[in-house]
Parts: sequence; structure tokens; C-alpha cells
Amino acid sequence: MTVLPILIAPDPKLKAKAKKVDAVDDETLKLMNDMVETMHSANGIGLAAPQVGVSKRIIVVDILPKDERGRPIRMANPEIIWASEEDELREEGCLSLPDQYADVLRPKNVRVRYVDHENEIREIDAEGMLSVCVQHEIDHLEGTLFVDYLSTLRRKMIIRKLQKIQKLAEANA
Ligand code: NI
Repeated sequence: MTVLPILIAPDPKLKAKAKKVDAVDDETLKLMNDMVETMHSANGIGLAAPQVGVSKRIIVVDILPKDERGRPIRMANPEIIWASEEDELREEGCLSLPDQYADVLRPKNVRVRYVDHENEIREIDAEGMLSVCVQHEIDHLEGTLFVDYLSTLRRKMIIRKLQKIQKLAEANA
């Protein structure tokens, strides 16, 4: 498995709508596994293909603590087919917005239909952290970042901060 470079906002590739996957073939499975490796090595709990520069509807999630990892969920074409009326406010972060966190309001529970790593159609009921994580990753497939839910002012502040950090890193490289 390969650790892939993660794109950092405001990369325009993060704002594009990703394309559907025809089938989970060997190539797609390899990408899924590389994404799991990339997510784990970055200490993340979720990753979407656009974050590694691939415009495909693929996400991986693993909300277990580090020492219990090994059962990540790999999803192609994930779709929210039901969402609870009840919302919940939770703090979110993103590997494409390093060290930035904010509270986001989302449906508390969701049911998700997807194609798994063995090309089987599956459904899961997600609650708590898993629910937040899956919704956040599916947003990436639409080109939506969690900062898009914040006020324009707050979003601009965060993006500007990331641009500054990146310029500094480039200057020191
Ligand atoms: Ni993210």
C-alpha cells in the first residue's frame, strides 16, 4: 500500500464534484487501500478520493482508536438514503484543512447505501462519530468542505491562515 499526498485547501480539486465508480475492480480496490494507508498515516478518521487528487466517489472511514484499527470501511458511490430529523452539533476537522476545527450542525443519524470493497451493495446505519464522519466525507464528493458551513468571514480567515502556513513551508523548503 502507498501513502498518497493529501491536497490542502484552497486547492481547486477539492471543490469539484467527483464521478461515480462503475465497479469496484482491482484498480478501485488498490485506490481504497492506498487511501486507508494514507488516512492512518495522517492520523485521520476519514478520507475522500478528491483529497488525494482523484475525482471519484470513493471514501474510507475508520473511527476506531489507533490501537484498535484494522477494520476500516471502504465505500464506493456512498449515498445518504435516510437522515434523522434531529440534528447534532459536533466539532469537525479535516486532513485538507490541517489544525482547523469548528462546530458543524448535521443530522444526528443517517442510513448510507454504498458499494463495498468486494463490489457488494451494502447499507449501514451510522450514529455518533461515524455519522458525522460519513457525512463529512460524502460532502467531499460534492466539493463541499466543512468550512463551507461557517460564516464567510470565518471561512476566509481559516483559508487565509492555511495559505500563509503553506507559503511559509514553501519558503523554508
Ligand atoms: Ni475532510
